[in-house]
Amino acid sequence: GKTLSIRDLLTMKQAGEKISCLTAYDASFAALLDHVGIELLLVGDSLGMVIQGHGSTLPVTIQDMAYHTRCVTSARRRAFVIADMPFASYASPQQALTNAALLMQTGNAQMVKLEGAKIDVIEFLVAQGIPVCGHLGLLPQSVNRIGGYKVQGREAGQAQQILEDALVVEQAGAGLLVLECVPAMLAEEISRNLTIPVIGIGAGPACDGQVLVLYDMLNITAGNRPRFSKNFMAEADSIEEAVRRYHHAVKTRLFPAPEHTY
Ligand code: KIV
Ligand code: NA
Repeated sequence: GKTLSIRDLLTMKQAGEKISCLTAYDASFAALLDHVGIELLLVGDSLGMVIQGHGSTLPVTIQDMAYHTRCVTSARRRAFVIADMPFASYASPQQALTNAALLMQTGNAQMVKLEGAKIDVIEFLVAQGIPVCGHLGLLPQSVNRIGGYKVQGREAGQAQQILEDALVVEQAGAGLLVLECVPAMLAEEISRNLTIPVIGIGAGPACDGQVLVLYDMLNITAGNRPRFSKNFMAEADSIEEAVRRYHHAVKTRLFPAPEHTY
């Protein structure tokens, strides 16, 4: 089979088929996830926390991201691969191009993801032929400005701002949008109003797809699992079975359940 494209993901949204996504950081997990049928692999800068052991995603460098992206793309066959632009690597369109090019050329990523409604950067990257995934709601790279990891868009004014940001991110040419930690009703409205697929994490069941941090759903992350995640190892005998259960639960809309949503 061939590698999935952004067109295939758009077709899935139009057909009402849920898109399943997990983070991946290495070749072994990438091959396992791909084998199970996970459509989207996100090389997230969450690797700063789950691989490198930092308390946030801020220490992750573009070299780290290019290395892990290469590990993932070398092993997957079918899944679409998105790589995160790390903290402070896309302050200007030109800086973003230089760094996105590393993720595409060294890492062989199919798309890059960046946090916030950085319209000028998104337009510039898209004009250079680089597919962009937006990321709105909770922005972990802004944790020091926000003052913690908490649900965003509970208040009407902030919800309206996130909806407007989603519309301009799509207008700027983004091909996908990740929505993190927002009320289910807001995510439902955004998913309905956007043509591009919306992938949720802690954003309720109405999104066009779901993503979780792999190590959280395998229950190997130290400390408390976030409310929106789920331990898929609880009823599984192997990692492959846990991933199969996740894939099935996303496809059949069993995950996320009400207890995973805001
Ligand atoms: O870095 C990451 O893993 C992410 C997902 C949680 C969306 O950005
Ligand atoms: Na990220």
